[in-house]
Order: sequence, then C-alpha cells, then structure tokens
Amino acid sequence: MAVERIGVVGCGLMGSGIAEVCAKAGYRVVVREVTGELLDAGMKRLTGSLDRAVAKGKLSAEDRDAAQARIVGTTDIGAFAECDLVIEAAVEKLELKRKIFAELDQVTPPQAILASNTSSLAITDMAAATKRPDRVLGLHFMQPVPVMPLLEMVRTVLTSEETFQTARAFGESLGKTIVVSKDNPGFIVNLLLIPYLLQAIAELEKGVATKEDFDTAIRLGLNHPMGPFTLLDFVGLDTTLFIADAVFDETKDPRFAAPPLLRRMVSAGWLGRKSGRGFYDYGK
Ligand code: 3HC
Repeated sequence: MAVERIGVVGCGLMGSGIAEVCAKAGYRVVVREVTGELLDAGMKRLTGSLDRAVAKGKLSAEDRDAAQARIVGTTDIGAFAECDLVIEAAVEKLELKRKIFAELDQVTPPQAILASNTSSLAITDMAAATKRPDRVLGLHFMQPVPVMPLLEMVRTVLTSEETFQTARAFGESLGKTIVVSKDNPGFIVNLLLIPYLLQAIAELEKGVATKEDFDTAIRLGLNHPMGPFTLLDFVGLDTTLFIADAVFDETKDPRFAAPPLLRRMVSAGWLGRKSGRGFYDYGK
C-alpha cells in the first residue's frame, strides 16, 4: 500500500516532532490541534526545530522551506479525509483516544492505517473503537523526535501483516531504526526506563546521594547523555507518573509503584523543564 499523505493528531511536543520528521522525509502532512492557539504554538515549535536543524548543519535552508511547505495545520479533523496514515499524538487519556480513533475511522479512507504514539496505553483498546482493528498499530516515537533514531512499533493480535509491513516501511523511510513490541504495558523502552527512573527517585528520597551525583555517575560512569534526574525533567514528571500508574494499574508490578516524592512534585506543578521547575530549577 502506498503511503503519501500523513495525518498527525495533536501538535504538542510529540505531534510537532512527528509532523516535522514526516515532512522532512518528503511526505505531505496535515497536523491537527483542537484550538487555533494550540496549533499556532505547535507550528511555532515545529518551525523553531527546523531552524535549529539548519543552524546545526543537519538541513539546508532549501530543504527546510520545502519541508515547511509540505505541512498544513488545521483544527478540522475532517482534513484527514485524504490521508493514508494517521498518527495520533493527543494527550494520554484512553477515553479521548478511543473517541479520536472512532472519529478517524469515520473521516479517513477505509484503507488508511491508524496509529497511536501512546507511551503506555493499550493499542488494542484503541483498535477496538474502530471498524478496522486490523489497520491499527502503535508507532511510539522518542523525545526529541527529530533527533532520536528509534521508532518502537507495537503490534496487536489484530494488526494485519500488510498493515505492519506498510508501517515498518514508512518508519524506515523516516530514517528511524525499528524495534517491535507486543501490545504489552510499557512496550520495550518504558518497560525498562520507568523502573530505573522510579528507583533513582526512591534512592534520592533515602539520601543515598545527591541528585547531581546520581546524574554525574550515570552520565560519566555509563556514558548516558543524561543522568536520571535530568532525564526525568526532560521527559516530564507528569508523563513519567502517568506511565508508571498506567503500567502499575494493569500489572500490579511493584517496580512501577511511583514513589511519593514524584506524586507530590506533580501535584505541586513541578513537572520538569516544561514548567520551569522539576528536580532542577530552569527559571522562567
Ligand atoms: N533537528 C535535527 N537534529 C538536531 C536538532 C533538530 N532540531 N537539534 C539538535 N540536533 C542534533 C544535533 O546536531 C546533534 O547531532 P550530532 O551529535 O550529530 O552533532 C544532536 O542532535 C544533539 O543535539 P545538541 O548537541 O544540540 O544537544 P545535546 O548534545 O544537548 O543533546 C539530547 C540533547 C539529544 C536531548 C541528548 O541529551 C539526549 O539524547 N538525551 C536523552 C534523551 C532521551 O533519552 N530520550 C528518550 C526519552 S524516553 C521517551 O521519549 C519515551 C517516552 O514515552 C517517555
């Protein structure tokens, strides 16, 4: 099946990054937000990232302009009517996602593939909201989407071989390296990442070392680009807590039990870089 036009639901941190990599790979992209204000903010982020790629010597100015010209922003879900593949990157609420999938099922061509970028919700639950569950799968991008080379594909028991192979070829055409997971809580990356991050918080609460020393130890001792507390602030404490709770709810696996400190920080609005404060202070 030929994939030429891509739809992206949501133009937040992930949606704008997904729209950007698709446009850079030559696809025509429709990206939809719920309000004009959110759309403007998302498009601004997208433009900023393209400009950064030019400044870093990763993209020519002509290619940036061509990529930009391939992207259309909208607030109308009906604008996905001619898309071959739609990637949902809305907020992590299952009921909202099921509603979006039911709407996409109505407005997109019957052969279109519907994908979710969810980090932890069950793809099968979204597939079940459509009349084409064989054409639904997970395409989980990593943050920051334009920079991270991985794409995690999530295949449910209902995903057809044709859908899977078409989506794999699409992912590879974006320049991403593919890994494949069952529709299992946490998939691959978060299955290992979240217990590690939660344990770092628990050890900090115990006073084993300072957050700075944990970060330095992991950065210089293991050559990770970021230590756990810098990474927590980068991913977002609310996002981390959401994934932990979602996996814990389903599995009761104690490795996903969020430490009280994480929950309190989220309640306090200390969400990490995006709110200006998390484990570290980022000022305004
Ligand atoms: N477009 C294209 N390339 C870009 C770019 C852009 N907008 N911005 C930066 N780059 C390139 C740079 O040119 C550079 O490439 P090079 O190494 O070949 O020169 C590279 O990206 C790194 O950029 P910078 O040097 O500007 O930035 P840093 O060195 O500070 O790296 C980082 C920033 C890439 C975020 C790095 O710190 C990192 O990899 N951190 C870990 C991120 C991570 O673990 N992400 C996964 C989180 S888990 C997840 O997403 C799953 C979810 O479900 C929670």
